[in-house]
Amino acid sequence: MAKARVYVARQLPAEAIRRIKSSCDAAVWERQGPSTRRVLLQRVKGIEGLLCTISEKVDAELLDAAAPDLRVVSNLGVGFDNIDVPELTRRGIPLGNTPGVLTETTADLAFGLIIAASRRLVEGDRRVRAGKWRFWDITGFLGEDVHDATIGIIGMGKIGTAVARRAKGFGMRVLYHDLVRRRDVEAELGAVFSSLEGLLSEADFVTIHADLNQGTLHLIDAERIRLMKRNSILVNTARGTIVDNMALFKALKARRIRGAALDVTDPEPLPRDHPLLGLDNVLVTPHIGSASVATRSKMAELAVNNLLAGLEGKRLPNCVNPEVYVRNRLA
Ligand code: DGY
Repeated sequence: MAKARVYVARQLPAEAIRRIKSSCDAAVWERQGPSTRRVLLQRVKGIEGLLCTISEKVDAELLDAAAPDLRVVSNLGVGFDNIDVPELTRRGIPLGNTPGVLTETTADLAFGLIIAASRRLVEGDRRVRAGKWRFWDITGFLGEDVHDATIGIIGMGKIGTAVARRAKGFGMRVLYHDLVRRRDVEAELGAVFSSLEGLLSEADFVTIHADLNQGTLHLIDAERIRLMKRNSILVNTARGTIVDNMALFKALKARRIRGAALDVTDPEPLPRDHPLLGLDNVLVTPHIGSASVATRSKMAELAVNNLLAGLEGKRLPNCVNPEVYVRNRLA
């Protein structure tokens, strides 16, 4: 029997590639980093399975280029705002993602950013490397305490909850805002449900853990930033466009808030001359929320599981649009 034709749009850990190649006729994008859109559109022609990442845009144009045999799209990442899900569903194509395995790793990074920004770690490191640290200074490099401060968590899903658990360990007061009120986190972690406005005006650290969708696009805009406390820090490890970056830039420049720590930006990556990078009260990391060796390997494993299940006509273990199965009458 002929092997299924698959395109893997990014380099993956060796074990993941081995598994795919052992049962598929797979082409793998040979360079580090994403290909151009033009190349991607060429490479997907005639495939039955696509394994992509959050950097590849999967829309009607790409699906047309791949049609008519495409049977599964497996996205390596928990977020899938790069994918036109309704369009996939309309065509009866299941979409897989990689939830769960990156929760704790991303929460670690969010907490790392909170500490790094409040205690000015990156700024201090830069000063030492530049040979500009000359003496221990009683008033030098003063930051703010994390312990006992108030944290405001926007989006109390898995990652938000994992951040709340860490915050509890630091003796922090935990406020959260979510579409759904979560009694379990209130009981377990003493987290207090708040309106978004209330959270913004009370928190010393505002940390974003919401999905990107029409309701959260530019959720944190100029008006909402104005509600934040003057000594507060904004942390974003979710998606860059949840924050209006220019509004944030203006607030940081005017010291309307104390700082920001961003693992995700709009655009990504930020160009070197982006105004945000000219500020000393912003810390930017290269979208590394899930970037630990163990977690990225698990994400690759889940993505391959989804791909292979789809090619075998089985239900994807982690399916974003299970409604395709109702239509396809697959158990
Ligand atoms: C995701 O999975 O959506 C992250 O942004 C990358 O790990």
